[in-house]
Amino acid sequence: MAKNVGILAIHIYFPPTCILQEVLEAHDGASKGKYTIGLGQDCMAFCTEVEDVISMSLTVVTSLLDKYGIDPKQIGRLEVGSETVIDKSKSIKTFLMQIFEEYGNTDIEGVDSTNACYGGTAALFNCVNWVESNSWDGRYGLVVCTDSAVYAEGPARPTGGAAAIAMLIGPDAPIAFESKLRGSHMSHVYDFYKPNLASEYPVVDGKLSQTCYLMAVDSCYKQFSHKYEKLKGKQFSLSDAEYFVFHSPYNKLVQKSFARLLFNDFLRNPSSVDEVAKEKLAPFATLSGDESYQSRDLEKASQQAAKPLYDEKVQPTTLLPKQVGNMYTASLYAALVSLIHNKHSTLAGKRVILFSYGSGSTATMFSLQLRDSQHPFSLSNMAQVMDVAGKLKSRHEFPPEKFVETMKLMEHRYGAKEFVTSKDSSLLSPGTYYLTEVDSMYRRFYAKKTSESSLTPTDKGLIANGH
Ligand code: ACO
Repeated sequence: MAKNVGILAIHIYFPPTCILQEVLEAHDGASKGKYTIGLGQDCMAFCTEVEDVISMSLTVVTSLLDKYGIDPKQIGRLEVGSETVIDKSKSIKTFLMQIFEEYGNTDIEGVDSTNACYGGTAALFNCVNWVESNSWDGRYGLVVCTDSAVYAEGPARPTGGAAAIAMLIGPDAPIAFESKLRGSHMSHVYDFYKPNLASEYPVVDGKLSQTCYLMAVDSCYKQFSHKYEKLKGKQFSLSDAEYFVFHSPYNKLVQKSFARLLFNDFLRNPSSVDEVAKEKLAPFATLSGDESYQSRDLEKASQQAAKPLYDEKVQPTTLLPKQVGNMYTASLYAALVSLIHNKHSTLAGKRVILFSYGSGSTATMFSLQLRDSQHPFSLSNMAQVMDVAGKLKSRHEFPPEKFVETMKLMEHRYGAKEFVTSKDSSLLSPGTYYLTEVDSMYRRFYAKKTSESSLTPTDKGLIANGH
């Protein structure tokens, strides 16, 4: 069986178009600090009419293959996680096959996985399980998480975002799975869902979704700790992992979630928690589960008690989720990318625990072991290839009026046919794919920006969408 299976290479793409949360806050008439402190968000990326989940994934996959020097013929499985519905039958994966067909490689298993923000994790598990299984043929797996998170006007709108992440999967990986260490929580709830197929916007019960998320955090942590203890024969607590990475709808929920983990440690094994935290949490020791989700005092006390550990174990993972927003399936992996960006030189030998949540609901907590590895699959090369700082620096901040206008145009375009986009790629970097047309049969056409100066697709850059 293949050993140390996991992520060999990772790459991220997010649109260069964004809006500052403090600007949106003022425009929406929200009280000052509501989006920036209340939700903990700095900025939000969004697709304009020339970008979508397919163009973003074409961009991130071609760029990953190019930057890490991977031959497209070496890919044996391609799995996509997304909750952005463009077609109810044709998978996003099939659009990506254009990249591989060109090299004569059509022997690639895998399709799309969908369940809110969890689809990327399902896709990742599928690829890791494939490499660890009898059916593995020795080639790489490739996982793509791609989403455009947009909400109708109202309190949920500032919790949008957009990105695509690609991960190359194989053995002897610098980011290896501890596959036996997984705890899941799956249940039937209506917290966030998309029953209206004519609209890209979800129906969301915001307060319920927060509680469902926190309940899933608790349940997964209990399952995870139990499995760890059975396997390793010793008590598990926060001190057994260096970093905790969360799916990040907005940063405040991540702060609350980590505080819940500390509260769980305190309830399970008070001696694993320091004296100051113990004193702060003691008044809440007898609350029932339900009461604990309702208690604002517990929320406040546990966040205060967890603050020093949060700064150490979570804060280095929060850069991109705060700057780009909720990227749905890509959100958790953008938090992992932030950790690699901030700490790549000191991560080897460390355990990192991830929490994935998808409304509806599905959730898993799982463990990764970070290791030294040879170029190009090293943690430092990942940081260099992704150039997170450069990507953030070269963004274009839109004024709120232009953001709202873009959202209106996207509403109109969602599910539409027979239109040509502006084909304006002036804000995109070379190598970025963009949407040019949707024809009378709803077929989508994309072009690739070939140079800094190109404003319209060249013949060379045109992808004919398989026709
Ligand atoms: N300064 C500082 N903080 C403020 C201010 C201010 N001026 N005004 C409000 N706040 C705080 C509130 O106290 C609250 O903090 P708390 O959570 O610690 O109590 C926070 O800002 C948010 O304010 P609310 O009034 O509670 O939130 P609102 O009703 O506006 O909506 C919500 C927030 C529910 C997150 C909404 O944006 C939403 O529905 N988002 C989409 C759903 C979502 O992301 N759910 C998460 C899991 S599911 C998923 O991943 C999609």
